[in-house]
Amino acid sequence: MEISVSEFLEPGSQLILPLFEGNEKAPNNSLSGLERSQRRLVREAISSGDFDAKKGKRLSIWTPGCNIILVGMGEKETIGHKRARNIGARLISAISKKKGADITVRFTSGWNSERMNDFAEGMMLRDYEFLEHQEVPEDYIDDPWSVNFQANSRYQTSLKKDLSESLAIVGGVHIARDLGNEPANVLYPMEYARRAQEWAKNKNNVAVDIYDWEKLHELGMGGLINVGKGSERKPCMVLFTLNPNEDQDIRRPCIVGKGITFDTGGISIKPTSGMWDMKYDMCGAATVFGLMEALHSTGYERRVNGIACLAENMPGSGAYRPGDVFKTYSGKTIEVFSTDAEGRNVLSDGLWKAGEFDPEYIIDLATLTGAVVTALGNQISGMWANDDDIARRLKKAASRSGESVWRMPLNAQFRKYMTDSAFADIRNGSIGGRAGSSNTAASFLEFFVPHRNFDKEEEKIPWAHLDIAGTAWGPGSKARSEGANPLFQFGTSGIHVRTLHRLITSG
Ligand code: BES
Ligand code: MN
Ligand code: ZN
Repeated sequence: MEISVSEFLEPGSQLILPLFEGNEKAPNNSLSGLERSQRRLVREAISSGDFDAKKGKRLSIWTPGCNIILVGMGEKETIGHKRARNIGARLISAISKKKGADITVRFTSGWNSERMNDFAEGMMLRDYEFLEHQEVPEDYIDDPWSVNFQANSRYQTSLKKDLSESLAIVGGVHIARDLGNEPANVLYPMEYARRAQEWAKNKNNVAVDIYDWEKLHELGMGGLINVGKGSERKPCMVLFTLNPNEDQDIRRPCIVGKGITFDTGGISIKPTSGMWDMKYDMCGAATVFGLMEALHSTGYERRVNGIACLAENMPGSGAYRPGDVFKTYSGKTIEVFSTDAEGRNVLSDGLWKAGEFDPEYIIDLATLTGAVVTALGNQISGMWANDDDIARRLKKAASRSGESVWRMPLNAQFRKYMTDSAFADIRNGSIGGRAGSSNTAASFLEFFVPHRNFDKEEEKIPWAHLDIAGTAWGPGSKARSEGANPLFQFGTSGIHVRTLHRLITSG
């Protein structure tokens, strides 16, 4: 999508008028630049009551030279960011480039800067396709949408700034989606690493470091090695640093992502049903990459660290097996209960590595458990935290971004379920079985969150874990009441790129 901002000039090939309820006539400026006959048609549609601007209503008025679309926004008094964003998204999915890809969105009575930006953000988010590996239909229009957002003169400066920032952030969301949507035969651990290096190539304020198979051995990253050793596509860790020369002695955030490029379950192999989805098991790492792009392209000037833990979980003669005991980067040992609980194993190395940056806080993202989908569904991510302040800030940023999280418990029972292994320091499966199994998974991760300076006398580093198994993909709509997520059509969502951008830049 290309965007521009202006006052009420000529309309493009299509004119979008998002209107609030209660207008008996067309608001001031809404019809500027239209011919008399066109103005009359719109006026009549509104005054006849045929278009009442209830949310979700749309009325298309085709006129020679301009397709005019009235969009119902509902009551102006109650509109929040969600409604504005969702209606923007639904709009772009409903209109066709065949009537012209150069469109005008005209914000008139009742709009303020924030809601305009939310509406535009919805349009940008939904304007996404993944056509990498298929032929497009002959009449497919390749040109991007070119959207001219029009508003009153007093909004020009803020709107220009807000919308170009949103477009840059959404670019990061779309990169995260691209990575998620790539099939596992195309995107394997070292291919992610290659793309990260390529992304960094002509940017002078980012550094990307790769710990490959050999380096993992040198460092003793047993979590990554054991999960990844059953595959010909070897595991790796990718370390991103944005603005590496800034904030030398200042604590900054570190974001860690689970990146299982395919999760067969390994020797504890998954059943056929549901295995398809496991090409998405690297969405945590995809969000880390997308976030780096979003921060970079919005010109963020402070240091931020990101870690992606990449492996392919395959069965085979070289694979790790149930009962194995191995040492992780932390020095702590893990007893393998199920090779399918692999995400936590690779994250053990990532979380420990994060401690070396002496971060202000660590946030990890992982498609960690099927149980969180059962608990919270497809529109809310599970959040666990060892610190109330980071939990509060993260929740606030998530909720403002329309990417809700719900805090879940860490407690002594869940810890005990994981740490009472007779053979190692911790077990990657819970003695409680399925009981609270997203919580036990989180307490496993908590075990690998380092204390400050790796000194047991000190507090643990503030940490939050987001289980995005339900929210990273899937519209989650089997009933009319649930409603598909309008922000994306299929495949992956790029969840929490926007949340973390907001948290880091202004939370
Ligand atoms: N990647 C899966 C979790 C998952 C399952 C995400 C379904 C999305 C949809 C994870 O690696 C896994 O297999 N978890 C197991 C853990 C169990 C073996 C302790 C699970 O959730 O069943
Ligand atoms: Mn698994
Ligand atoms: Zn997994």
